Amino acid sequence: LPEPGVAALGAADVTGLLPRPGAKSDKYRRGVVGVVAGSDRFTGAAVLAVGGAVRAGAGLVRFASAAEPVRQVRARWPEAVTKIVTPEEGVRETGRVQAWVVGPGMGTGDEAFALARSVLDSDVPVLVDADGLTLCARDRSLLRRAAPTLITPHAGELGRLLGVSVAEVEARRLRHARRAADELGVTVLLKGSTTLVAQAGMPVRVNTTGTPWLATGGTGDVLAGIAGAYLAAGLSCYDAASCAAYMHGLAARVAAGGPEGGEAPIAALDVALGLPEAIRR
Ligand code: APR
Ligand code: MG
Repeated sequence: LPEPGVAALGAADVTGLLPRPGAKSDKYRRGVVGVVAGSDRFTGAAVLAVGGAVRAGAGLVRFASAAEPVRQVRARWPEAVTKIVTPEEGVRETGRVQAWVVGPGMGTGDEAFALARSVLDSDVPVLVDADGLTLCARDRSLLRRAAPTLITPHAGELGRLLGVSVAEVEARRLRHARRAADELGVTVLLKGSTTLVAQAGMPVRVNTTGTPWLATGGTGDVLAGIAGAYLAAGLSCYDAASCAAYMHGLAARVAAGGPEGGEAPIAALDVALGLPEAIRR
């Protein structure tokens, strides 16, 4: 910054966009977000993604996965409506979901592929993260869909999607975020110490609310849940990604900040729990 086609994301932009319930709102109007995450081997990512969505203010979170992640999510987030699904049936029968989050911890095998495809076949906005992005790198046609798609890669995941090295993405983050948005026809939220949001025809938004304390396992999963809640509330991919990056960074600062002005390490779940205070601010 300053650079043509690049815009810093500020508090005023986000404040105007954040979903707020109206007097006549009900849970469906506030947004139903579906989350497909976790697997019998990895359950933490599912708990974190659901937590991000719940704490960002979704009207309802529906969670569909294998038996063990469903058990874990039910134990941690009683607000979520859960369903055990097989890869064969997928999520096609899961009703009234306004946006999906797919990927964190779901695995990268054939069963995960079938489940991810059932999500991407839907006609509502979909956010793809983590293992979901690895599956898309294997078959990019998964991303060819009629409804909007938001991808939330770190540099390694974006490199795999574009067929270039992590070092190449890191050296030219802006260019590769733009290129992915153009070539894949999706909105790109590229994670790192600063976060970029790229979409064809729009200025690339740069978010700097984050803190190095965010560099800990699972914070990306929380971000996916937050952005999913905003998509379900009706924000565009571009605005949902921008608001999520901004609030995720602010929530991490809230969580890391001490009473005497010092800072302390945070765990990923703390970021979700910091959201209400971040939103108030
Ligand atoms: N400053 C600010 N923000 C940071 C910094 C930093 N130095 N480092 C990381 N972050 C933020 C990123 O912008 C992003 O929002 O922390 C988050 C990290 O997200 P991911 O990279 O997706 O990591 P996460 O998902 O939490 O890691 C868990 O996911 O992709 C896999 O291999 C990865 O096993 C790992 C798992
Ligand atoms: Mg991740």
